[in-house]
Amino acid sequence: MKQSLLTNADLKKAVKKFGSPFLIQDLSKVQNQYLQLKQALPNFRLHYAVKPLPDANVIRALKAVGASFDLAGNGEIDLVKSQGVSPNDCIHTHPIKKDSDIRYALEFGCSVFVYDNLCELKKFIPYKKNVQLLLRLSFPNPETPVDLSKKFGCTPDEAMDLLKAACELGINVVGLSFHVGSQAPNPKRHVEAIETCNGIIRQAQADGIDLKILDIGGGFPVDYLNAEDTDIDAFCAPIREACNKLPVNLELKAEPGRFIAAPCMISVSSVVGVSRRQDVPWYYVDDGVYGSYSGQIFDHVVYPKSVISDSPLTEKSVLAGPTCDSIDILAEGINLPHLKVGDLLVGRMMGAYTSATATEFNFIPKAKIISVESLEKLHEELNSQDDSVTTLEIEQKARLA
Ligand SMILES: Cc1ncc(COP(=O)(O)O)c(C=O)c1O
Repeated sequence: MKQSLLTNADLKKAVKKFGSPFLIQDLSKVQNQYLQLKQALPNFRLHYAVKPLPDANVIRALKAVGASFDLAGNGEIDLVKSQGVSPNDCIHTHPIKKDSDIRYALEFGCSVFVYDNLCELKKFIPYKKNVQLLLRLSFPNPETPVDLSKKFGCTPDEAMDLLKAACELGINVVGLSFHVGSQAPNPKRHVEAIETCNGIIRQAQADGIDLKILDIGGGFPVDYLNAEDTDIDAFCAPIREACNKLPVNLELKAEPGRFIAAPCMISVSSVVGVSRRQDVPWYYVDDGVYGSYSGQIFDHVVYPKSVISDSPLTEKSVLAGPTCDSIDILAEGINLPHLKVGDLLVGRMMGAYTSATATEFNFIPKAKIISVESLEKLHEELNSQDDSVTTLEIEQKARLA
């Protein structure tokens, strides 16, 4: 596993300073991930999908490097608005909305929305002068752990009728969008989807419907196995090639979430209990699947984990979370040193769909987010004589007001 820039001693000092559990959020990594993807897709406008990590510091860091934003609800609108993001840099891509949601986004000034069925399309009749719609298509992808086409998107066969229906209702339809599923293992489905959309865009043009935008969604993967950087340029090369065959002047968009957010967070939690059950050591830590490790359930991810311990002995063990529920188990049958209360568990690649989906079940508070400019900066601060905290910002992770 890739070594962190932080030493074990740093993490122990951090626990003393901030209290366990916490997530260290590296804003330089957030910016770096965005810039890498931007370099790999230079002709795209990248809208960071806020949902995997809806955090004010992340929004500010991304805004500073020129990102646009992809929103899915009113809380996300409040968040980007609070950070001074222009509504012109936002798209709203939840395929299913209440009338009040549409009005909330329009009041903010965001006018780009998604639809994938007639019922949703008709909701825009009262706002037809003020909206620009993208028609979302489904491209099922059993190769992804999170296949979003199960729930959203019309089939390619239904697309022309839904585009025509918008025109007949006098509603401005401006493009197509899709999401081939999160954590795509390869770009094959992105390429197939772009090729299918190319055909629909040309068919629409022939029928007098001028589509100006293609939004290829998210799905850009990270390496949970080794916590190494993904070669995102290699992943995107076939996507770039497929896009070269699209009509010129088409505006290209993407909605990356996980790729930007996942590598930026490290979770630190502490052993709070030790027992032996049927001759197997059980270690109970103060963060679990109802907390920062919620993605283990909802997002089907096993995070790279390590422990900080002095024990030279290892044994097949169970690592469990702090709640009273027996589903709250992080790992079983894993080789661990003989841990004691106060030893630390470190989880990596924990920025996406982790704290965002954490609960406060059993009234156990969510892990704090310690937002830092960079890990180097945190290392310096933890080791400086001066005890004051300057670049660190400690947030009790809660709903964003
Ligand atoms: C509409 C939409 N856009 C973007 C994303 C982000 O996808 P990913 O995290 O795979 O990049 C999602 C994830 O659920 C989504 O539903």
